[in-house]
Amino acid sequence: MKIKIRNICCIGAGYVGGPTMSVIADRCPNISVNVVDVNKERISLWNSSNLDDLPIYEPGLAEIIKRCRNKNLIFSNDVEKFISSADMIFISVNTPTKQKGIGAGKASDLKWVEASARQVALFAKGHTIVVEKSTLPVRTAEVIKEILYSKQNLSNNKRCSSTFEVLSNPEFLAEGTAIYDLENPDRVLIGGEDNDAMEALTNIYKNWVPSNKILHTNIWSSELAKLTANAFLAQRVSSINSIGALCEATGADVREVAKAIGYDSRIGSKFLDAGPGFGGSCFKKDILNLVYLSEYFGLKEVANFWNSVVTFNTWHQHRISRLITKKLFGTLSGKKIVVLGFAFKSNTNDTRESAAIQICKNLIEEGAALFIHDPRVNYEQIAKDLNLKPLFLSEKDEKAKLQSLGGYWDNLESLENAFEQADAVLVLTEWAEYKKIDWKDVSNKMRKPSWLFDSRSIIDPKKVENTNINFWRIGDGLQL
Ligand code: NAD
Ligand code: UGA
Repeated sequence: MKIKIRNICCIGAGYVGGPTMSVIADRCPNISVNVVDVNKERISLWNSSNLDDLPIYEPGLAEIIKRCRNKNLIFSNDVEKFISSADMIFISVNTPTKQKGIGAGKASDLKWVEASARQVALFAKGHTIVVEKSTLPVRTAEVIKEILYSKQNLSNNKRCSSTFEVLSNPEFLAEGTAIYDLENPDRVLIGGEDNDAMEALTNIYKNWVPSNKILHTNIWSSELAKLTANAFLAQRVSSINSIGALCEATGADVREVAKAIGYDSRIGSKFLDAGPGFGGSCFKKDILNLVYLSEYFGLKEVANFWNSVVTFNTWHQHRISRLITKKLFGTLSGKKIVVLGFAFKSNTNDTRESAAIQICKNLIEEGAALFIHDPRVNYEQIAKDLNLKPLFLSEKDEKAKLQSLGGYWDNLESLENAFEQADAVLVLTEWAEYKKIDWKDVSNKMRKPSWLFDSRSIIDPKKVENTNINFWRIGDGLQL
């Protein structure tokens, strides 16, 4: 039986639901795409007439919203209405690490997925294809199916005729390049048992994705492939960061090592940038989920292997704050450090698990006065992440006075006048605008001896060469 999809509902208007559904709406003008969320504020931002207010910053997203919103793309809090009219429902809700109970600190908390499945069970009509878009532990589809068909939900006679098929269709977009990744995916993965349902989802993607990039697997392979992809990517980052530390100790240069190994086509050149440690909402949580699953199935060595990727990443973040403290004579008390970037990578306003959080906390703990700048992250978010309100200091002289107290942070709206009397500058996010900074000019403003710490390798060493700034960059052993 050929199933034609006319009406899609996506539960969850977050970093995945919003951009993914926008691209589907853009590429499939004959399908009505409705994105629902319980969060009223988020939905009202998605509906804001000012496109700068969209809750997510992604290059290219605002243009699509402008083209499709209120045509075949709706953002709404009316979960019931749009579930009941949908032929296909994507579950794209958050799946963070469980904070308490069995598996706390490792397993995924599936309460939002379960709540979504219960809503679908309650409101869906006719035959509905339910698609797992969230990243989920292996065999979650079984749980979803059980909820959808549970007796409790079928007790209402009107719903008895509802039928469901569950598919896994994990999302591989990366933040900052979400729209590009969605429009040009390396692959689309669809796991399932029912050929008609799989074909219906495949036909949606075929509107813009070449058929040879649409992979079909069994549902468990699809669920596990998503966790595995993130684990492999994170493992590469930890691997290159470990080699970076060794480069600094031995006189090698991590960029040269990365280039040399990246030329090997079996290794490849991508994802070999040493940095302050991986962040983002998913790498850590997905690896910990893999660790939990491995432990659950009695595979202790497998669990230990993957866990080391996460423990190394944490060690690496502490390593960076320790070395900054060491270079600044072992004490940061009363020292001004300008921090460039707080997002976990450039081109996003997302700070979840950003390496900047741990590193800044450590520096504040050492007594530093941090002046934090990020072109896309607002000060409320930074305050939340650091669990510390900023000191809003208007007068410059007052700033200087308070600087001597140390152990606080302030927000920098712009870089104008940011470097006056700074002891150090620390690059934590690779925003393009930081590459353009005139270090000669900055050097004149800083207190001596002054330091530039580049944890992202974005500053051209030549531009710092003839200044009075001491320069450290990640994985650069040439400075020995
Ligand atoms: P998010 O927190 O940005 O968005 C999730 C949204 O779901 C929230 O707005 C929340 O209010 C809403 N929600 C939760 N329960 C709901 C319910 N019962 N009904 C309606 N709305 C509900 O999360 P995200 O970053 O979009 O991630 C979603 C999933 O996608 C996660 O499983 C994540 O691992 C996966 N993923 C994320 C990325 C990424 O780059 N962020 C990439 C690939 C996969
Ligand atoms: C990652 C994956 O790349 C996506 O495929 C996946 O869909 C997504 O997780 C998810 O499941 O959430 P994302 O976290 O958005 O995407 O960003 P990445 O580009 O993967 O970067 C993750 C972290 O690793 C960032 O902190 C980044 O700065 C760091 N990184 C990345 C490096 O330090 N070096 C590199 O070479 C690459």
